[in-house]
Amino acid sequence: MSAVRTVRIDLDERSYDVHVGAGAVVRIPEVLPPRAKRAAIVTQAGIPFTDHVAALLGNRLVVRVEIGIGENSKTLVTVEHITRALASAGITRDDVVVAVGGGMVTDVAGFAAAVWHRGVPVVHVATSLLAMVDAAIGGKTGVNLPDGKNLVGAFWQPSGVICDTEALTTLSARERRSGNGEMAKYHFLTGDDLDALPLDERIARCVEIKAAFVAADEREDGGAQMSRALLNYGHTLAHALETATGHAVTHGEAVGIGLVYAAELAAALGRIDAARVDEHREVVGATYNLPTTMPGGVDDDQLVALMGRDKKARSGLTFVLDGPRGIEVVENVDSSAARSALAAVR
Ligand SMILES: NC(=O)c1ccc[n+]([C@@H]2O[C@H](COP(=O)([O-])OP(=O)(O)OC[C@H]3O[C@@H](n4cnc5c(N)ncnc54)[C@H](O)[C@@H]3O)[C@@H](O)[C@H]2O)c1
Ligand SMILES: [Zn+2]
Repeated sequence: MSAVRTVRIDLDERSYDVHVGAGAVVRIPEVLPPRAKRAAIVTQAGIPFTDHVAALLGNRLVVRVEIGIGENSKTLVTVEHITRALASAGITRDDVVVAVGGGMVTDVAGFAAAVWHRGVPVVHVATSLLAMVDAAIGGKTGVNLPDGKNLVGAFWQPSGVICDTEALTTLSARERRSGNGEMAKYHFLTGDDLDALPLDERIARCVEIKAAFVAADEREDGGAQMSRALLNYGHTLAHALETATGHAVTHGEAVGIGLVYAAELAAALGRIDAARVDEHREVVGATYNLPTTMPGGVDDDQLVALMGRDKKARSGLTFVLDGPRGIEVVENVDSSAARSALAAVR
């Protein structure tokens, strides 16, 4: 068994540890809040690793809530389902919610924990690559509305996070590749060649990168040099594409396409040259094995309208774009440029 690494997320009194590696799940007792008497698991069917976590929680475990699979279950209805189960089990602020799953589970369970009794502790046991490198870290929680993704949510930091690579053995190849979308994003934000690292190290490095952004700008108030908004590189088109296709593309696939689109848009605005656009195509397509063009049947007008409703957009169409000063937030992007860049990812 390889060594378990620990990455500290530095947030004053909300600081916590992320344990990464094969067998990291045995660290569960270390990440539970010391006063937590009882535990509620929130998970999904089809995640065998949950049994492992349940066994380690022993007689602390009083309820196991299963939620639906897929973005269409990432709703307030599911939050009601979870909180009613917490009510039946009598979960209080002296207890803990343990989310075991991918980013969908950690986002929804985290939000349920944030609002149940105005906030109970939560621990994330990430079981997808995407949750390990991104979703389970940093305290953003929430659910979707028909109007768009993640529109209802809260900042709610976990007490600790487990990224046990042994959980990944049952993850489908497509879902595993989906985690590469966030890695390709980090690759451009830092210049690190993450793909070259062994899996444990790669995940730990991604956690460190995310931790640095979260520590610099916990609540995305803007202004910070390492603004958390930069973590949305590639995400403006990605979120629109997920909504427009009814989630026929995974989050990671959408981010891959969104990164290439952001490069094409930056080039159309004269911010970067063609070679840098090619580098985006190469890194996304060849290094991280993700699609670089959109699936057929999505309408440009709908995509532009959805991008205009992005919750980051305070001033017109807003994107995170590469440029001479590096990657930064760009507001009031001309909609005809946004539209013409879509043709480049068809
Ligand atoms: N909060 C954040 O900062 C943040 C960051 C990035 C993404 N996200 C959110 O994360 C979500 C995507 O997360 P995801 O890609 O993990 O998708 P997901 O949680 O929907 O998981 C994908 C599929 O894999 C299954 N699965 C998960 N772990 C498994 C395992 N070990 N074995 C077998 N099956 C397993 C799930 O049941 C699901 O069917 C999106 O909702 C996105 O908005 C949040
Ligand atoms: Zn993402």
